[in-house]
Amino acid sequence: MDRPERVRHFTKVSDLSVEEIRKILKRAFKLKERPHADRSLTGRTVALIFSKPSTRTRVSFSVGVYQLGGMALYLSEQELQMRSSESLEDTARVLSRFVDAIVIRTFAQSDVDELAAHATVPVINALTDERHPCQALSDIFTFEERFPDSKGRTITYMGDGNNVAVSLAAAGALSGIDVCLGIPEEYDLAPALWEEIQGLAAAHGTRVWVERDPERAVETASAVYTDVWTSMGQERDQGKLQALQPYQVNRGLMSVAPWEAIVMHCLPAHRGEEITDEIMDGPQSVVFDQAENRVHVQKALLTFLLGGD
Ligand code: CP
Repeated sequence: MDRPERVRHFTKVSDLSVEEIRKILKRAFKLKERPHADRSLTGRTVALIFSKPSTRTRVSFSVGVYQLGGMALYLSEQELQMRSSESLEDTARVLSRFVDAIVIRTFAQSDVDELAAHATVPVINALTDERHPCQALSDIFTFEERFPDSKGRTITYMGDGNNVAVSLAAAGALSGIDVCLGIPEEYDLAPALWEEIQGLAAAHGTRVWVERDPERAVETASAVYTDVWTSMGQERDQGKLQALQPYQVNRGLMSVAPWEAIVMHCLPAHRGEEITDEIMDGPQSVVFDQAENRVHVQKALLTFLLGGD
């Protein structure tokens, strides 16, 4: 695999065009059928910098790089000089001399953007407080796996306007899938992110809208999606948990959704909070397929970014 002429990063969903997302998801479907068929990362190394805990993202990138013939190098931020005694800029320049791509999970989106600005190899956002684009790409894959006629269907996200909601809405907008956000007023998306999402939806002829009434939010949904109400590193906020309680994905709510609706969750789940056991383990749930699909989609993403096609 030759290096592409222009370095491509994946710091947010809209770093990719509609056509590029199609190409990556098509490749991911092939990789899911034949996980060991592509060895195009042979001899190549991918750094995984994590400042927060992770099960799915860390393992799926590690396994994916290995299946592609490469080596994943896990680096916890505490063990690097990064930030404590070396700038992000210098870290980006040094790592670019050693590795072929940098995957980073951290707090501030601006840190990922700065790393990308100075790296000469692809930088992939593995979650920030603002965005989770790898999750969103994989979620669209899972949705299309169940609904190949995905265009014009609706994914309803129930919860607060967090990083998963932002990236899901962006990925829906670029994939011809409408996204309804079932969010209580005080937990809306940040205004700048909401404007960005509305711009993407308008440009691609899709709809992203907020519905405060939980039952109305799910009544036309092909997928009902939820995420934890207390994100990594946040204190448990009783007021927030109370405000979100009506948005819990449970039997009552799912009885209002169309019969064919699937249930999605990016995991980890706080069972009994945002989702009940019977729904998470029930026949409509695709949450473990969703977790598995992270590996197939990220392999396709890596081969796209590293191969340039
Ligand atoms: N969904 C997700 O990103 O899971 P991890 O935090 O375990 O990586």
